[in-house]
Amino acid sequence: MIDAISFKDGTFRYLDQRLLPLQEIHVETRDHREAIEAIKSLAVRGAPLIGASAGYTVVLGVNSFKGAKEAFPAYFSQLIADVEASRPTAVNLFFATKKMKAVYDANFESDSLDELKAKMTDEAHKIYNDEVDNCDRIARHGVEQIKRDCADILKTRKLNVLTHCNTGTLACCGIGTALGVIRLAWKEGLIERVITAESRPLLQGLRLTAWELEHDGIPFISISDSSSAFLMQRGMIDFGVVGADRITANGDTANKIGTYAHAVSASHHGLPFYIAAPVSTIDITLKEGTQIPIEERNADELRTIFGTQVATPTTPVLNYAFDVTPGTLLRGIITEKKAVVGSYETGLRELFTQQ
Ligand code: MRU
Repeated sequence: MIDAISFKDGTFRYLDQRLLPLQEIHVETRDHREAIEAIKSLAVRGAPLIGASAGYTVVLGVNSFKGAKEAFPAYFSQLIADVEASRPTAVNLFFATKKMKAVYDANFESDSLDELKAKMTDEAHKIYNDEVDNCDRIARHGVEQIKRDCADILKTRKLNVLTHCNTGTLACCGIGTALGVIRLAWKEGLIERVITAESRPLLQGLRLTAWELEHDGIPFISISDSSSAFLMQRGMIDFGVVGADRITANGDTANKIGTYAHAVSASHHGLPFYIAAPVSTIDITLKEGTQIPIEERNADELRTIFGTQVATPTTPVLNYAFDVTPGTLLRGIITEKKAVVGSYETGLRELFTQQ
């Protein structure tokens, strides 16, 4: 199993994903500012992993506080603000800081700072472990849904699945969300081949998803992002499954830039297109996708390819990291609680009351 992040004896350890697959470098830090930088720079990335890393980053920050208890509230609120400022789109980050704040609110008055630090560490581990379990459940629900939707094809042959970005262990703590569904479907003999879109500009599909699939021995082929419609036209894709960074109450979904184009193409070709994500990725406070804050990243990510300049430094660039796929283009949203199909308005809301 790939060890994307871990936390032991007050040290946060992460695999620097910017260097994969060519170098596997693990970095250790006890400094929350370095952990925040790791999130910002995409050394750690992927919505559930960002959430779990945010929990551990808060623990690092709390552990390094050396002042008197009276000074802690102001320090803690600045720490939370700094962690929350690292990346805007993946709501899992805010899910994690909210959990850490709840531990603070419930225990600050009664506990010593040492007791509070221990409870926060437990909470951060819980966020991580819950995401590991979520992945297994998402995979089971996803496979059941795919078996239902693709039953006719499965009578004669296995399926070819398109995915985008990286939603595996590197992004999720456990076996992955969309990639977890693919892993289980392959284990059950449903998959012929995975088609992984490169995911420009940082190539999470080409570098990371391909690396995870190769590691597992799952047959795959990498394509440029713009190829998916043509492959669909040629009958080379049967369905798509991707992850999400934030899902609104109506089922609109922010995910890595390029996802929307795949979903439009899938809809045009009558192919099912699914989102696989934990409930921690659903932002039920937002009505629709236009309200999701979309991260715009540094222009040089586009003007250069891994340090090599490919456009003039003055080329104007618009580098949105995510796009929004309308819920109407989705066949279903697969969560750890169930696969929501049909009305997202009621289906997603029910997840918050369901045990
Ligand atoms: O910018 P990244 O690499 O953090 O973006 C990641 C994605 O868009 C993933 O598809 C998404 O977080 C889902 S991860 C299960």
